[in-house]
Amino acid sequence: MDTPVILKTFRNGKIKEYFVMREGELHTDLGIIKLDELKTKTFGDTISSHLGIEFIIRKPKAPDFFKYAKRSGAPMMPKDIGVIIANTGLCSSDCVLDAGTGSGILAIYLGSIARKVITYEIREEFLEIARENFAQAGLYNIELRHGDIVEEIQKLDEKFDIVTLDTISASHVVSHVPRILFPGGFLAAYSPFFEQTKDIRDAIGKTNFTELKTIETIEREITFTDRGTRPATARVGHTGFITIARY
Ligand SMILES: C[S@@+](CC[C@H](N)C(=O)[O-])C[C@H]1O[C@@H](n2cnc3c(N)ncnc32)[C@H](O)[C@@H]1O
Repeated sequence: MDTPVILKTFRNGKIKEYFVMREGELHTDLGIIKLDELKTKTFGDTISSHLGIEFIIRKPKAPDFFKYAKRSGAPMMPKDIGVIIANTGLCSSDCVLDAGTGSGILAIYLGSIARKVITYEIREEFLEIARENFAQAGLYNIELRHGDIVEEIQKLDEKFDIVTLDTISASHVVSHVPRILFPGGFLAAYSPFFEQTKDIRDAIGKTNFTELKTIETIEREITFTDRGTRPATARVGHTGFITIARY
């Protein structure tokens, strides 16, 4: 599949940005851009609209997929994904089991680093969006599987370095994770509510996991204006808790 590009320009002190495929036309208030021309261009080149406005062509990275990719539901926020990557030490030799896939945003971040990601989604109608997002990200090391992770994990004979769970059924999956984790591997479970988090921790408590911790990350962007510098008044509120445990 063709991969998307980011078109970016600065007008009157503001950034205008578009996430586009390399075909058809894009109609903007800065003119029409013939996207087919992108096929003969490379990242760092420019393309002009029919009004002569120049756009720089940039390569999309995982945060661009968080911002612009099609969604089947709410993806995990980069601040929470960062906590998972940092606390599990995800690296290029790792094999990751992920569930549920959702829009595939967490899987895209994981797949950008890891050797392989196997991700399960229970809802068949969500598979196509995730599959398209993986192809657009150019990540062919992500294997998308349809199924209920609670049942599917019991049939797996592969071993993993990290298991990431972002599904309501996470607490029912936990007891099966040690069998498929390499010793030293990590479990990272995301849960939006205290109650789910408690269930996940109780399930972990019945296993041989160690180094158990639950984290909530508060992100505060700093604004810089003529009046002064301070944390933004509007900010991301609570998203979820990340529970990490090591086998
Ligand atoms: C919050 S979304 C995951 C978002 C994803 N981490 C991302 O960043 O895009 C949760 C997903 O888990 C799926 N799901 C729920 N229960 C599941 C199960 N038992 N097995 C597999 N997927 C499941 C849901 O259909 C939904 O798409």
